[in-house]
Amino acid sequence: MIIAPSLLAADFTRLGSEAARAQRAGADWLHLDIMDGQFVPNISFGPDVVAAVRPHAKKLFFDVHLMCGKPAILLEPFAQAGADEMIVHVELGEQVLPLLWKIKALGKKAGLAINPPTSIAAVQPFLDKIDLLLVMTVNPGFGGQSFIHECLPKIQQADAWRRERKLPYRLEVDGGINNATVAECARAGADTFVAGTALFHQHNMGAAIRKMRQIAGDNDPGLADLRV
Ligand code: DX5
Ligand code: ZN
Repeated sequence: MIIAPSLLAADFTRLGSEAARAQRAGADWLHLDIMDGQFVPNISFGPDVVAAVRPHAKKLFFDVHLMCGKPAILLEPFAQAGADEMIVHVELGEQVLPLLWKIKALGKKAGLAINPPTSIAAVQPFLDKIDLLLVMTVNPGFGGQSFIHECLPKIQQADAWRRERKLPYRLEVDGGINNATVAECARAGADTFVAGTALFHQHNMGAAIRKMRQIAGDNDPGLADLRV
C-alpha cells in the first residue's frame, strides 16, 4: 500500500524541509494539492512551488491533485516542475478525456478524482484509461476536515469494478484519513492513502506513518485472502 502525506498540511514557511521530512519519515508519495480559487474556494500553490520542493524529496513520487477548473494549460508546467502523476476531476465533464490523453502524452501517470456528491457511475467510462482513481472523502478545498463515511460504498464499488474488469488502477482516498478512518477505507478496497493533518501535524511523522501503514495493512482485503 501507499502512504502519501499531503503537503497542504505542512508548514508553508518551510515546504522544502517539510517534503524532506516526509521522505525521511518513510512516505512513499507526496500529495500536492493545487487549488485555483475557482473549482474550489481556496488557492494553494503552483508549478514554481512544486519545482522548488522537488529537489528536497528526490525519492518521493509526486502525486499532483489538480483542483482546477481549466487544468489543460497547467499540465505541461506541472510536468516540467516534477509531477509524476496528475489527477483531474471527473466533474470537469467533456474536458476529462482530452486531459487524460494529454497527461499520458506528457509521460505521466493519469489520475481521476471524484467528489463526495458525485455518483460513482460518472467514472465508469474512464476506468480503463487511468492509472489511479481518487475517491474524495471530504469536499475539496481544505485540509483538516472530517471524513465523510457515506463515501465508503463508492470505494467498495470502485474496487469491485477493478476486480471484475481486471483493471490495474490504484484506488486512492483523500480527506480526513487518520488511524480511525484508514482501517475502514482499507477494508473497502483502498490501497493508496492521502493524509495531511494526521501526518504533517505529528512531531514524529515516522512513527505516525508506521502506525497508519500497520493499521491499513491489517485491514487490507487482499491480505485477508492470504490469512486463511
Ligand atoms: C482537500 C485535499 C486533501 C487534503 C487532505 O481538498 O485534496 O488532499 O489536503 O488533508 P487532511 O488529511 O488534513 O484531510
Ligand atoms: Zn488532495
